[in-house]
Formats: sequence, structure tokens, C-alpha cells
Amino acid sequence: MRKQIVAGNWKMNNDLTETEVLIAELKRQNKTSNAEVMIAPVFTNLYHAYEALRKDNIEVVAQNMHYDNNGAYTGEVSANMLKCVGVNTVILGHSERRAYFNENDEALAKKVDAALDHDMRVIFCFGEELNDRKSDNHFNIVESQIKNALFHLEDKDWNSIVLAYEPVWAIGTGETATPEQAQEMHAFIRQTIEEKYGNNIAQSVSILYGGSVKPNNAKEIFTKPDVDGGLIGGASLKAEDFFAIVNAF
Ligand code: PGA
Repeated sequence: MRKQIVAGNWKMNNDLTETEVLIAELKRQNKTSNAEVMIAPVFTNLYHAYEALRKDNIEVVAQNMHYDNNGAYTGEVSANMLKCVGVNTVILGHSERRAYFNENDEALAKKVDAALDHDMRVIFCFGEELNDRKSDNHFNIVESQIKNALFHLEDKDWNSIVLAYEPVWAIGTGETATPEQAQEMHAFIRQTIEEKYGNNIAQSVSILYGGSVKPNNAKEIFTKPDVDGGLIGGASLKAEDFFAIVNAF
């Protein structure tokens, strides 16, 4: 069976004190689902979060990393550095990284390789913009994002890949893809993987949906057969809301 995952992407939110408070609140929540739970704080709070949660079933993951091990890349952090502070999973390709920091498929392919070389798991994000959907180009865009960054991988690498479909028009806008739109795209993604890697890999890769998932819409989205979880932005900043989503499974 595919893993169900709910990951909270904190983005550039929560200083150290706020991180401590939110983690304390997360620890008080009651988990009733089998979904794996992850949170992604900012780099400066990763080690603290890891230490605070090492006995809990909440994995601390990073929001980004560089593809090189070290060197003259001012402001960047490498896979090895993340591993040293207890981080074994990294979010790559988030639309905000693509839009504001010019991350392209080529750089993302290198980042994916670097993460896998360090035995890290990758949550690989992609999704179309509103114009793409309006012009009925959303399937093409998603297909090319996946192919360009991931189709050089070997079969075994897919054990370490989680996909996250995040339509850009639904991120932080309060506008969610309908459960039917999510299912339609997730089924397309799985079919795209199947055509290249076969049914076993396609059926075992978890595909998360992201974009304005809230406690009041999570259940409807998560019941769709090809939706294996969520990448949660805004609603992950409130412990009760986040766990309401985790428990929507
Ligand atoms: P949102 O963000 O839940 O605030 O829409 C999702 C994301 O960017 O991962």
C-alpha cells in the first residue's frame, strides 16, 4: 500500500520562539490516522525542531537545498549539512522556489540527484499556473516538469521520491482544486510514471496534493484514490488545523 503523508510547509514563518511554541502544540495533538507527518521549518530552526521531535512521530524536513556538497555558493545549504542536523527528507521544486528564485528543471534534476546520493527522500513539487489551466495546457506542463527533472532516475530511485502536485493558482489563494480536478491530475501523473517505469513503481509512488488544503476540505480531497496526502502551507501553522488535516485520513 502507498504511504499516506501529510507534510507542513512552514515557508519563511516562525522564529525560534514561535517554532518552540508550535512544536509544543503539535506534541499535544492526538493523531488518529496512519499518515506519516512531517514539518518543514526554516533552515535555522531545523536542528532545534529535530531535537525537540526526535522521540515523536513527526519528521523534520527541509524546504530546499543546493546540489553541490560545499563551495562558493553564498547563502546556500547542502544535503550533507542537512543530514548532519537530522534531516533526511527535502522538499524540492516548490513553485515559490521556481518563481522567485529562478529554479528550473535542470537545476532541480541536479538537486534531486544530490539528495538521492545522500540517501535522502525527496518531496518533488510541480504544478501549472492559472494561464496554463485556462489554455488547457496543464497536463503538458505537469508532464514536462516531471520528465525534465525525474525521468533520468533509475527504478530503484523511486523508493525515495514523493510527488507533490501543487497547482500554482491554488497556493495560498484560498482557491483549492476541486477533488475531481486533483484526482484527474493525480491519475494523469501516475499514468505518466507508469508509461516510463511500469505499473509497480507507478502504483507505489505517493502523490500529495497541495494548494489551500484546510480542515474543511481535506477529507474530500484525501478520499480520492490517487491522492495520497497533502503538502500544507497556511493551515500547517496552526497545530489544531494541521492535525485536523492529518486526521482527515
Ligand atoms: P497553502 O500552501 O496550503 O498555503 O496553499 C501550500 C504549499 O505551498 O505547499
